[in-house]
Amino acid sequence: MLLKSTCIYFFLLSFSAASGQISRAPQLGKSPVKEVINAMTLEEKINLVKGSGMRGNENNNGPVAGGIDGKVPGAAGSTYAIPRLGIPAIYMADGPAGLRIDTARVNDKKRYYSTAFPTGTSLASSWNTDLVKEVGKAMGKEVLEYGIDILLAPGINIQRNPLCGRNFEYYSEDPLLAGYLTSAMVTGIQSNGVGTSVKHFAVNNQENNRYNLDAVIGQRALREIYLRGFEIAVKEADPWTIMSSYNKLNGVYTSESTSLLTAILRKEWGFKGIVVTDWYAGRKPVEQVKAGNDLLMPGRDMEYTAIKEAIENKSLDVELLDRNIEKILNIVLHSPSFKKYKYSNNPDLKANAAIARKAAAESLVLLKNEKAALPLNKSNILLFGNASYDTYIGGTGSGEVYKAYKVSISDGLQNTDCRPDQQLMDSYKAHIAAEKRNRPQRSSLLATEKLLAEKKFTIDEINSIADRGETAVITISRTAGEGSDRNVDKDYYLQASEIELIENVSSVFHAKNKRVAVILNIDAAVDVAAWRDKVDAILLAWLPGQEAGNAVADIVTGKLSPSGHLSITFPMKYEDVPSAGTFPGKGEKRPAKAVYNDGIYVGYRHNVSFDVKPAYEFGFGLSYTNFSITGIKLNSTKFSKSISASVNVKNTGNQSGKEVVQLYLSAPRKNMDKPERELKGFAKTKLLKPGEAQKLTFILTPKELASFDAQKSAWIAEKGAYTVKIGNSSNNLKVNQSFTLENDLLVEQANNVLAPTDNLAELKSAE
Ligand code: BGC
Repeated sequence: MLLKSTCIYFFLLSFSAASGQISRAPQLGKSPVKEVINAMTLEEKINLVKGSGMRGNENNNGPVAGGIDGKVPGAAGSTYAIPRLGIPAIYMADGPAGLRIDTARVNDKKRYYSTAFPTGTSLASSWNTDLVKEVGKAMGKEVLEYGIDILLAPGINIQRNPLCGRNFEYYSEDPLLAGYLTSAMVTGIQSNGVGTSVKHFAVNNQENNRYNLDAVIGQRALREIYLRGFEIAVKEADPWTIMSSYNKLNGVYTSESTSLLTAILRKEWGFKGIVVTDWYAGRKPVEQVKAGNDLLMPGRDMEYTAIKEAIENKSLDVELLDRNIEKILNIVLHSPSFKKYKYSNNPDLKANAAIARKAAAESLVLLKNEKAALPLNKSNILLFGNASYDTYIGGTGSGEVYKAYKVSISDGLQNTDCRPDQQLMDSYKAHIAAEKRNRPQRSSLLATEKLLAEKKFTIDEINSIADRGETAVITISRTAGEGSDRNVDKDYYLQASEIELIENVSSVFHAKNKRVAVILNIDAAVDVAAWRDKVDAILLAWLPGQEAGNAVADIVTGKLSPSGHLSITFPMKYEDVPSAGTFPGKGEKRPAKAVYNDGIYVGYRHNVSFDVKPAYEFGFGLSYTNFSITGIKLNSTKFSKSISASVNVKNTGNQSGKEVVQLYLSAPRKNMDKPERELKGFAKTKLLKPGEAQKLTFILTPKELASFDAQKSAWIAEKGAYTVKIGNSSNNLKVNQSFTLENDLLVEQANNVLAPTDNLAELKSAE
């Protein structure tokens, strides 16, 4: 005992060179942060601005998303501990759909599972900030109880193109929706006293050549589309950390960009937390430190060497290291590790599974429902498609979650009165098992999962199957993941075998006056135009987390009315996507550049401005009941400081349900080009019983009226008439009313930074 306390005492002592006396070293939390920094050796300082390293080989094919051993096996990284100054390591782990840590530990039979919540796009389709906050709260509790300090989530990059392999992790093509959902998620997670890392900052909208791609983009699109969601999240929710991205932005790696990380993020938006790099991002550690990329993750020896050399040859001022360290220590001070939180390693997975199910059910989007095909009749359901039995619940890569179980669509229906046909199930299970035996094992976390070949049926076989029930349900699936993008052929567009399955099942079932529904179990938009007329109903399930089948069952059996709406556009054809010509960049297989000449016209902004008809528009979603949206009222016809708009939403059908109400604004086009309308507010009603109504009020502030004028580097609202349009999709606007702004308004002056340095001709049309 005596020996132990003597050791501790000795540990807390340090030698003060100036006085030549032994003195107690300052301790984090007890002494001012600046004093703690002053007591650090240069070696300690350098170690603190880089992570403590990571399992896996950094030279082996670039970054390897793996984990660190030690306190929490499978965590993605940790900071450096300096025990003599009372500084513990803090731990970070992925990711956006739930905590990703190893389930197994050495000499331990217990398994450490986390809940696989619905993926980003899925959650976004709920348009419900309260629900997203509740999911965040549950996710954050798992983070806390497994001894992690910071969750590397949420991911909020704009879904510029349906082929981006990580779209499933992200929320939307619209920055306002993405920004407010992110704020809700961050608030929910951080309510547990753990941190978040809003990622990937910024313009990381593709995986092809992600470590080196130069995203060439005009200042207006950058501010209005690609930065706006981050701006909202920083201002509304105060995330502990922001993760800079791998790519370059107008020629400079984002992690080395003072303009992005200091001028915009800190000076303009007031960000107080720390910026962490994406894992092994950027090339020049010294430039990263200077730019204000406080923490280099997961930490490499070459970073240590480069920073030390730069300090020694005076090309890096030690004050900049101190600046970054101060921010890091301020985060450490908040962390559960610093507070010595006694985590249980035992989060309430059962309670969280219930939240995952509720969230998934509220995020399902009913795209089509003719002849009242859904909800299903209480009968034998004929489930086709591999994913009906082997449902995808998430994507691959760092967004994967190691959950205890998953509920497939057939499992979910088993517990209801709409039971899947046993014989068909048995034959599918045998087919899937055989296909899986032939499928190569995934070689790494970044390897995507190859789709299994669909089972083939003759018309006669389908005929006899159809006699066993009333409705066919065909699940079409896609998965994707970090490290690669999707293809147009056989991925965005359905494969021939899938089309054949839909056509054959539909023709046989329809000939017998039976119904056909398709469930889309997918990561991002696929083509629907080629086949949607052949089926009666389409339910978009996305990648809905481990409770997938139960959530689908809640909707298809009619226990709940669907209330999800699209957070992206489903185009009529791939060429209608505004970035189709420039994604993933021109030329060779790994393009060096992607020129964002679609400018601000991303997603529905393109459709509504240039009259391009989508297959299903942004904001669209059906219900089993009906709603009216009436009585729009503005509190003024003239804008000053703010304006409020209210509407009445009434359930006019005969089943309880929730409606997603969306406010779009059409602004005058005087000096600046404007999209015909843009989302400027949204809300989800409470559960409305038949006949019940709710009044919703939206507030518009000057920022919502403004566009970014690249010539003036300012957010400016132009004088003239503005029209507020409110409805339940970007094309279904039920009511509108106008107000005027009498004089041009300079809403915010910004820094003239991050201008593109080349390709101006190509970009011009977009500015
Ligand atoms: C991903 C990040 C992730 C990190 C740590 C990177 O490869 O891009 O999103 O948080 O790995 O696993």
